[in-house]
Amino acid sequence: MRLGILGVGNMGEAILRGVLRAELFRPDQIAIHDIDRPRVRRLCGELGVRDAGDIKGLAALSDAVIYAAKPQNVPEILPELARHLKPPKLLISIAAGVRTATLEGYFEGEMPVVRVMPNIAATVGEGAAAICGGRFAREEHLELARRIFESVGSCVVVGEELMDAVTGLSGSGPAFVFLVIEGLEEAGVKLGLGRREARSLAVQTVLGAAEMARRTGEHPAVLRAKVTSPGGTTAAGLFELESAGVRAAIIRAVERAAERAKQLGS
Ligand SMILES: NC(=O)c1ccc[n+]([C@@H]2O[C@H](COP(=O)([O-])OP(=O)(O)OC[C@H]3O[C@@H](n4cnc5c(N)ncnc54)[C@H](OP(=O)(O)O)[C@@H]3O)[C@@H](O)[C@H]2O)c1
Repeated sequence: MRLGILGVGNMGEAILRGVLRAELFRPDQIAIHDIDRPRVRRLCGELGVRDAGDIKGLAALSDAVIYAAKPQNVPEILPELARHLKPPKLLISIAAGVRTATLEGYFEGEMPVVRVMPNIAATVGEGAAAICGGRFAREEHLELARRIFESVGSCVVVGEELMDAVTGLSGSGPAFVFLVIEGLEEAGVKLGLGRREARSLAVQTVLGAAEMARRTGEHPAVLRAKVTSPGGTTAAGLFELESAGVRAAIIRAVERAAERAKQLGS
């Protein structure tokens, strides 16, 4: 199995490094292409992957191609890619909002397509991705995509009708969490902590809470109850958050982001 990556920007490079780190592919099994030639040369020099030269070369050197250029470049790139990439090869697209039916429409025949919604944390190996298959994608195609995106974090399989929900939750989610971190930092500063110390405590608090939720697999409400002693400090703080409607605001934020994703994709 050989992998091609079309567009090695933030996401493309993160995926490239992830699959190499996980040893899913050897460097000589991976070809890359990007209009930013110095970037391609730098990555090929550093990682030992192949420079495909152009889209035709990429298709020739790949059994599966990951489309990791911008969504607005799809109409320009896909016709050329479709001329050279034929079934039973596979197209995996991370272009936000671009539906599998749109991608399939560029190809003649029954082209297997897998659509992925990754998130920015893939760049630090802790991404949250969801994948869905197009009309001609089979189990083995989803399995390959799943393994690729697990090399840069976690990955779930969903129906395509849920991709806007995923965009609202895990696509926009890092920004929502950054806002929480920012709030914690400001609170620390307000209470007299140095900014550096406040940020360090805020970041580690979010990281530690997330890691506890991941490792224990417990419902967050159970974890929350465990650290909330009767009449204590945490109970006092939680009351303020609930009074301010933070939980409802988070739900509305994710819903609003999902609605916006739907608007942008239609
Ligand atoms: N970043 C995220 O958090 C995130 C989350 C979910 C999904 N995505 C999706 O991931 C994809 C990539 O996003 P990104 O943030 O990694 O973007 P990016 O850093 O701009 O990477 C895109 C790369 O593709 C190159 N490119 C542009 N036109 C090309 C062409 N005609 N042929 C070959 N390469 C071309 C760009 O080169 P130039 O820079 O020279 O234009 C750039 O190196 C997008 O489709 C986006 O929707 C991103």
